[in-house]
Amino acid sequence: MTGTPRPRTVLLTGASGVVGRSILREPTALRLLAATHSAPAPEADGRRIRCDLTADRLGLEKEEYTALAGEVDAVIHSAGLTEWGLPAERYRPINIEGTRRVIEFARHAGATVHFMSTAFVAALAETAPVALSEGNMCRNYISSKWEAERLLRDSGIPHTVFRPTNLVGDSATGWTSKGQIVQLMSDWICRGRAPFLPAHAGIRMDFVPQDLLSKAVLRAIEQDVSEGEFWVTYGAEAMDMDASLRVLAKHAAYLGRDLTIPPVVDPDTLTAEQLAGLRPMVRNYVAVLRDVSEVTRCSGGVLPSSMPELRTRFGVPLVDDATAYLRSLEYASAHLS
Ligand SMILES: NC(=O)c1ccc[n+]([C@@H]2O[C@H](COP(=O)([O-])OP(=O)(O)OC[C@H]3O[C@@H](n4cnc5c(N)ncnc54)[C@H](OP(=O)(O)O)[C@@H]3O)[C@@H](O)[C@H]2O)c1
Repeated sequence: MTGTPRPRTVLLTGASGVVGRSILREPTALRLLAATHSAPAPEADGRRIRCDLTADRLGLEKEEYTALAGEVDAVIHSAGLTEWGLPAERYRPINIEGTRRVIEFARHAGATVHFMSTAFVAALAETAPVALSEGNMCRNYISSKWEAERLLRDSGIPHTVFRPTNLVGDSATGWTSKGQIVQLMSDWICRGRAPFLPAHAGIRMDFVPQDLLSKAVLRAIEQDVSEGEFWVTYGAEAMDMDASLRVLAKHAAYLGRDLTIPPVVDPDTLTAEQLAGLRPMVRNYVAVLRDVSEVTRCSGGVLPSSMPELRTRFGVPLVDDATAYLRSLEYASAHLS
């Protein structure tokens, strides 16, 4: 006797985060169980699970853990500490040991793990043309994601790795649950506060709308994909510096501001005195731009990309990145600032 097959059940860690909430908004036949930590995930309509990556059994009681493992077919592991500039020991319990616990759970459940890593790991690859400086503010974060990827590789469990670049709002509406570093920095530049923009020659401004990542991972699970590494980036299609500055000028004009685009300077020519002369907040923002630029340079200037494959294999829509970037800035100006 054949009954109606039950929908496959997917545990989503980090359901309250930017990526988690974007995934929860996407239509899918999968049954998503939203695992949240301290914040709620308003888009979750099914059962919610309180999960702590830093605790044994993900912070669940033994019975709940076992029952959950019995019903989960796949895990989207999106929870993590995403802030940059923290000491390495802050990332370890969540990004590395937390991933170890997710692997343990998946082994118990016989589930495939779909891991949200970062495209910035390209800067640590053996193929990196230049070594990332020790003091780069993204380094400890990237290293923790790199280490988590290694744990997955060594675990032998079926898994995929998605490596998104910096995400912006939804491709159609600009919606995001929370402002991201791209919107924050762009807003600062559009207010005319940046004295100059540190960027290495030739680097691409690679920003991807968050729903493209959500669609890709959900379609991968629907298609029962259990291996592969996917760079969720535009790569060589991404805006160059001039294209991104045109978006900023357009957005400033939309806000009624007469923006003089600040000069672009090579970060390697910046002197300590030049930086010391800046007000602390300006210095911090300049340092973010400089360090992100360095990450991209160490990734070869252009991030690796699986976008063509994501389109053909998972139906990820063809979206112009400059249009999506502008839409995202408009949404952020109207709703987040
Ligand atoms: N957003 C991006 O631009 C971007 C780009 C590249 C890669 N990624 C990767 O994509 C993933 C999701 O990013 P995101 O932007 O959604 O991050 P986010 O908005 O900072 O959300 C992080 C999520 O992790 C959860 N979390 C933190 N500590 C936890 C713990 N101890 N136990 C359980 N859950 C915990 C948070 O829950 P609470 O808030 O409730 O504590 C939150 O739901 C991350 O792994 C990140 O590395 C993101």
